[in-house]
Amino acid sequence: MIKMIIHALKRYAWFKRFNAKVTYELLAKYIPEADWHFMNYGYSPNANEPPLDLPEDTKIQRYPLQMYHYLAIKTEIEGKQVLEVGSGRGGGARHIAGRLKPAFYTGMDLAQSAVDLANKIHVLPNLKFMQGSAEAIPLKDGSVDVVINVESCHAYGSVSKFLSEVKRVLKPGGHLLLVDFRNEENVENMSTLKNQLRDSGMEVLVEENITANVIRSIEAEDETKKERIRTLIPQKWQKLFSEFAGVVGSRFYETLKNGSRQYYRFSLRKIA
Ligand SMILES: C[S@@+](CC[C@H](N)C(=O)[O-])C[C@H]1O[C@@H](n2cnc3c(N)ncnc32)[C@H](O)[C@@H]1O
Repeated sequence: MIKMIIHALKRYAWFKRFNAKVTYELLAKYIPEADWHFMNYGYSPNANEPPLDLPEDTKIQRYPLQMYHYLAIKTEIEGKQVLEVGSGRGGGARHIAGRLKPAFYTGMDLAQSAVDLANKIHVLPNLKFMQGSAEAIPLKDGSVDVVINVESCHAYGSVSKFLSEVKRVLKPGGHLLLVDFRNEENVENMSTLKNQLRDSGMEVLVEENITANVIRSIEAEDETKKERIRTLIPQKWQKLFSEFAGVVGSRFYETLKNGSRQYYRFSLRKIA
């Protein structure tokens, strides 16, 4: 019953904004574990993508980190001003800021508690996190070379408003790199997102279905994820959290498998 009400309310922009704010404020506040850096479902690369060597201590979060890495290498990052919208616990920002050498990387998130946590656990000279909304980005026009957006825009009240904000803050020729999923049963399905991107006034360079890569990632890290849930989450919340985390057998995983949910990767360029 509660699930049905929440599902129905998610049609409303105000509820989506409220739901995202409350959920992610609480997650960072009540699970402040410094070694939990990501909140995406992960990516297992294709055979033709360059292998990624990682230090031993990042192996536990290899797949969600790869989601960032293989998205970011779609454009040149070195020496660039990068903005991430929806940076969560900051693990992707830390990887890109450290490894791909942008001039500066700003991670922005709606949830103040996630921003505070990320600023505490990821300290690099070219990295900072700040609070802000995707629908009203607190940066000047034409100040950013690359915008990164990982598994976040499904939660926004208005994706079109977000895209107009991205276009405003990007320099001419700048790039938006975005990955996210959509449930085909919802009004806002993957076709809606593709149309929103095409109507954004930016040029779509890459449009890839990466559902199979995400499924492989979920399967590959399933045991590790389940063990983390058993360790970190109070028992009464473990079932709910397993759904949220998309473990094998969850509705999220099953809908990816049966094709009623799709996961895509996009690269767009603001026309110079
Ligand atoms: C599923 S998490 C992904 C976090 C991170 N990108 C990662 O992959 O680990 C979605 C993130 O988007 C953020 N978010 C949701 N709505 C937002 C908005 N309107 N503006 C900025 N961030 C938002 C949430 O607070 C959350 O941190």
